[in-house]
Amino acid sequence: MITKWYDLQLLGDDRGSLVAIESCKTIPFETKRVYYIFNTKSDIRRGFHAHKELKQVMICVSGSCKIELDDGKAKEVSELIASPRAIAIDPMIWHEMYDFSKDCVLIVLASDHYDEDDYIRSYDGFLKEISNG
Ligand code: TYD
Repeated sequence: MITKWYDLQLLGDDRGSLVAIESCKTIPFETKRVYYIFNTKSDIRRGFHAHKELKQVMICVSGSCKIELDDGKAKEVSELIASPRAIAIDPMIWHEMYDFSKDCVLIVLASDHYDEDDYIRSYDGFLKEISNG
């Protein structure tokens, strides 16, 4: 199974909703970096890379989009809809996001600082790395 979800606890009361994410508890790694993606145009596809080592989880906190995860053997598409649910983007998973709604906001928690050397940005290079084991 390529697609893994982590259910986040919705802590709601009559004032509104709250979701807390704790490193090594709610998600299975220590978070060293958080970034968010917003204002993405609906006809744009982004991502187009895999990471060698980095672990990430992505949470849609507003709007919706689609994400395709590809382990080099199969592809799975999921719809990300604002909800207390995080999708895993594990190492060596090629990922592309698309069909962004205008109000889509994605928050990403990452296990390490930004490092361009950890990126595989060529799909052929990704398939080669997969077949080399
Ligand atoms: P990129 O990873 O290409 O975005 P996406 O995968 O969503 O298409 O990142 C866009 C730009 O931002 C690129 O120049 C790298 C830079 N960047 C950082 O400087 N720090 C970060 O933590 C991230 C995720 C990207």
